[in-house]
Amino acid sequence: MTAKRLKIDNLVTEFVTPDGVVRALDHVSFELKAGQIMGLVGESGSGKSLTGFSIMGLLDAPGRITSGRIVLGGQDIRTMTAEQLRHMRGNRMAMIFQDPMMTLNPVMKISAQMVEAIEAHRRISKSEAINECRAALAMVGIASPDERLEAYPHQLSGGMRQRVAIAIALLNKPDVIIADEPTTALDVTIQGQILAEIQKICRQTDTAVIWITHDLSVVSGLADHISVMYAGKIVEQGTSAQVLGNPAHPYTRGLIRSVPAFNPPHQRLYQIPGMAPALSQLTPACAFQPRCERSCVACAIAPPVTPVSTDHAIRCFHPYREPLEFVG
Ligand SMILES: Nc1ncnc2c1ncn2[C@@H]1O[C@H](COP(=O)(O)OP(=O)(O)OP(=O)(O)O)[C@@H](O)[C@H]1O
Ligand code: SF4
Ligand SMILES: [Mg+2]
Repeated sequence: MTAKRLKIDNLVTEFVTPDGVVRALDHVSFELKAGQIMGLVGESGSGKSLTGFSIMGLLDAPGRITSGRIVLGGQDIRTMTAEQLRHMRGNRMAMIFQDPMMTLNPVMKISAQMVEAIEAHRRISKSEAINECRAALAMVGIASPDERLEAYPHQLSGGMRQRVAIAIALLNKPDVIIADEPTTALDVTIQGQILAEIQKICRQTDTAVIWITHDLSVVSGLADHISVMYAGKIVEQGTSAQVLGNPAHPYTRGLIRSVPAFNPPHQRLYQIPGMAPALSQLTPACAFQPRCERSCVACAIAPPVTPVSTDHAIRCFHPYREPLEFVG
C-alpha cells in the first residue's frame, strides 16, 4: 500500500523571532503505513501540534519549513501547488483539532457543513451526500444522526461536537488523519473509547492515524508505534511494546513513571524534575541534560539517532537497557 504511505524525512521547522531563529522542529522523521496508528507524545511545547501543522501545510508565518520532505504516496507535499495542497487537505489528509470549533462553523447546521466538506472534493448528489454524513455520524457513535444533522454546533455538547469534527475528518476517507489531542477536554476513559472507535474505523478503511497526546496511557494498547518528542526532536521511537515495555530514553521513563495508569495504586507518582526548556535558549548539549539523572560530560553535545533494536531508536548516549518495573 505504498500509495498511502506517509514518510516524514528530516523535517525542520523554524520561526524567525526578535531574539533570532528558533528551531521548533529539528530533523523529525517517521513513517506510517496504511492503517497504522502512531502516538506522538510529549510535554507541552515539545512540537507535537507543529508537527501536525507542518505536515498539513497549515503553518502560520513567521513559522516555516526550512528543510526535509513530507512524502505522501510518493509525492513530496512541499513541492505541491497551493491548489494541489487545498485538494489534498480534507481529502487525502485531514486534521482533527483540540478545539472542535476550529473545524465547525458556528452559524451553519451540521448537515450543511458536512455536505460542504464532501462537495469540496467530490461530485455526488445531495441525497447521497446526506447518506454519507449520516453513516459518518453513526460511525463515531452518534446515536440519532438525523437529529444531529439538523442541529447547530452550539446545540451540541462538547463531546458531541468533537465526535462531529471527527466524523467530518473521516468523510472523504483520507489516507492519513492527524488528531491533535481531540479528546483532552474529556476524561481519560472517554478518550480511550473514542480512540478505540477511530482505531476500528481506520483499520477498516486503511487510514493511517497520528494521535497527538501528552498522556502515554491514552495511546497504550491502541497505537502500533509511539514517537516521543522533546524540545522539537523525536527522542525515542518504536513499537508501542518496545517504547512502553522497554523504554530506553530517560525522558520516556520519566513520562511513564508519571502516569497513574502505569503505576501501582497508592504509590506516589514520579515527577520529572525541572521544566521543558525554552526553544530560544537551547544549547548544543542534549536538550534533556538539565533534567536528566544519567547525564555526564558526553551529553555536552546533542546525541544522534541511535538504534536500540529493529524498529526502536533513541537520541541518548546512556540509554537504559533493563525494562522498567511496574509498568501496568
Ligand atoms: N509563532 C511562534 N514563534 C515562536 N515560537 C513558536 C511559535 N509558535 C510556536 N512556537 C514554539 O513551538 C514550540 C512547539 O509548539 P507546539 O504547539 O507544537 O507544542 P505542543 O507539543 O503541541 O504543546 P501542547 O501540548 O501545549 O499543545 C513551542 O515551544 C513554541 O514556543
Ligand atoms: S544524552 Fe545524556 S543528558 Fe541526554 S538524555 Fe541521554 S543521558 Fe540524559
Ligand atoms: Mg499542541
